[in-house]
Amino acid sequence: MASKPNGSIAARMFARKSIAQVQRESATSELKRSLGKWNLLLLGVGCIIGAGIFVRTGSAAALHAGPAVLLSFVVAGIVCAFAGLCYAELSSTLPVSGSAYTYSYTTLGEFVAWIMGALLLLEYGLAASVVAVGWSGYVVSLLADFGLVIPPQFTGPAGYTLMRDGAPVLVDGQTVTTLFNLPAFMICMALALLLVVGVSESAKVNNVIVAIKVSVLAAFIVVGGGIVLSNLPTLVSTNWVPFIPENTGPGQFGVDGIMRAASIVFFAYIGFEAVSTAGQEAKNPAKDMPFGIIGSLIVCTVIYMLVAAIMTLLVPYSTLNVPDPVAVVVDNFGPQWGWLAKIIKVGAIIGLTSVVLVLMYAQTRIFYTMARDGLLPKVFSNVHPRFQTPALNTIVVGIVTAVAAGFFDINVLGDMTSVGTLAAFAIVCLSVIYLRRAAPDLPRGFKVPLYPVLPVLGILSCVYLITTVPLNVLTFFAYFMVGAVALYFVYGLRNSNLQHGETQDDAPDMGEFPGPVIDE
Ligand code: ALA
Repeated sequence: MASKPNGSIAARMFARKSIAQVQRESATSELKRSLGKWNLLLLGVGCIIGAGIFVRTGSAAALHAGPAVLLSFVVAGIVCAFAGLCYAELSSTLPVSGSAYTYSYTTLGEFVAWIMGALLLLEYGLAASVVAVGWSGYVVSLLADFGLVIPPQFTGPAGYTLMRDGAPVLVDGQTVTTLFNLPAFMICMALALLLVVGVSESAKVNNVIVAIKVSVLAAFIVVGGGIVLSNLPTLVSTNWVPFIPENTGPGQFGVDGIMRAASIVFFAYIGFEAVSTAGQEAKNPAKDMPFGIIGSLIVCTVIYMLVAAIMTLLVPYSTLNVPDPVAVVVDNFGPQWGWLAKIIKVGAIIGLTSVVLVLMYAQTRIFYTMARDGLLPKVFSNVHPRFQTPALNTIVVGIVTAVAAGFFDINVLGDMTSVGTLAAFAIVCLSVIYLRRAAPDLPRGFKVPLYPVLPVLGILSCVYLITTVPLNVLTFFAYFMVGAVALYFVYGLRNSNLQHGETQDDAPDMGEFPGPVIDE
């Protein structure tokens, strides 16, 4: 029975779910502890590798860091490690399976949880759009290899001049202004429909896709590395001198450019927190969680640095600002490697498809949980009677991601995703500090080492990387957050179940509808 909310607005904003309440709502707290450290590491690698390395590394090198994009990967990897350790502590402390949204609701309270929900819309929803645009780049390029040309107007965001190899693409002597990214729009809608019908991505499928993604990158490293080694001194002097190109303006090369590129390639690491969400399933969380999180970050950093080194050694970095940089570099391997370029494109397309699917799924899951908490309209938690999936929620997520992917530039979308995710990570680090103070005696399966230094460094480094993003993106982000805060007071605060003393015990739990869950 609903009751009138009581207490001051400030008290209501910081109302927290009790751990017992979250536990009750979370059927998944009964999960079997079946994941070993290598499962966790693979889970991380599977979620991490996507458009970041296949697409965004190109523009990060071409426009911001040059060959020193390798250092940007190290910087971004370290920032993620700080946040990753904090995720590991929270997931081993709070007996809930869930995202940073649930962690915030239990620690910093409802208002911060709402803010976290808005940030996760950028981290998952918008990231799905970024990866869909990357997917589109590889699909357009692969189809062109087979003589199938999608009209260029329909391969890019609204109002952009289509460029190839640093020059405008001309059709009948005219530059091409893109109207809409049709393939990116379509893949979002198609995957949303698949999620509505209910798709189950089991551990086996996940492992196959991880194997495909890693294999194409490994093939790139082995073949490209062989070519590089056979001609190393010349390639170094042609393309790696200077290794850190001179600064030419804010965020353009030099140390400033390395940091700016770090905020771009940071995107390539998003997804490692999926390891922490398996905290309740780890056989030995104290040892296996840090192994899975830090291990997957290290594996990906090494892969990313090798790929970036080969890319920037084999072609001048300035030519890498293309939708399919990895494939463009393979084209430079020589005509005998034409088949490899096609295989790499197919591998990238398969890998990117699964990343879009997982990100969209995660977004529907967050909306679903928020709707069950009364923070979003109930339609978001309605489960389709036949498909047993949150159909309307999924269609909304599909339309939002498809429109963003269809009309916006990948660089703007990617920067927005990075800013939102960095802010979310900073809140996660803050939650660890809060919980250590508020509940020092709570049993913790894993504790962040060197507390409080690492969580504080996590907050500072996330905030610092946010400041390297261009002002127009930060302004857009500020508007987005103001809108989110306004919506909280207009809707969330008034409708929250917690404020009315309701719980959602009668609602079907997330675990009841099929989705791309990673299980043994
Ligand atoms: N890390 C993921 C990617 O690069 C989001 O696509």
